[in-house]
Amino acid sequence: MSNDPKEPLLLDHEYDGIRELDNKLPRWWVWLFYISIVFAAVYLMYYHVLRLGRLQAAEYDQEMKAGAAAKEEAMGKFEASIPTLTPSGDPVILRQGGQIYAKYCAPCHRADGGGLVGPNLTDSYWIHGSNFTDNVSVIWNGVPAKGMITWKNSLKPDEVYSVASFIYTLRGAKLATPGKPPENQAPAAAAPNQFE
Ligand code: HEC
Repeated sequence: MSNDPKEPLLLDHEYDGIRELDNKLPRWWVWLFYISIVFAAVYLMYYHVLRLGRLQAAEYDQEMKAGAAAKEEAMGKFEASIPTLTPSGDPVILRQGGQIYAKYCAPCHRADGGGLVGPNLTDSYWIHGSNFTDNVSVIWNGVPAKGMITWKNSLKPDEVYSVASFIYTLRGAKLATPGKPPENQAPAAAAPNQFE
């Protein structure tokens, strides 16, 4: 800064030796400033006065509602399809099912399916029916009164399908340690197992 009193931009006031230059702001900056004022006015009218636009909270609510509806629909579709399902033999699906089993099911049904708190999944005795679809609906709906969890609340339909397909491969497995004896004494003939 020059101290030349004839400096054309220098204003004529001075405070404790501090003086001020009247620099012109660049035009683009001034235009941005005007545009932001116009934008703010339009924004205020659009969102807060006329309420034409949805604010973030309303948008969030709507997205959540749409998500819940989509989930509901997918769950309904899966539930309706249960009677037509057949176990998958796809190794990718079975691997996914095995991982889910190890994480969520093994604590109650034992890593090899032999049964702990939950029943043995390798024998030919079934409390809720021996069909693959019976297994799927027990996993999906659970048996809350007996301690079997309602997995539709925490697993996706394809996860329930893959874990059901996985436990289907445990049927008839030869266990190293004897499995839990059947609590349901209904003979296998009344609930046929396809391995018999
Ligand atoms: C908290 C313990 C627990 C967990 C975890 C659990 N189960 Fe169960 N499960 C049970 C019990 C207890 C029963 C027996 C319910 C009854 O007596 O009606 C059962 C029953 C079943 C049955 C029906 C067996 C039959 O004889 O009809 C299947 C199939 C099954 N569970 C699969 C699974 C799968 C797959 C998972 C993991 C996603 C799982 N369970 C996780 C406790 C559990």
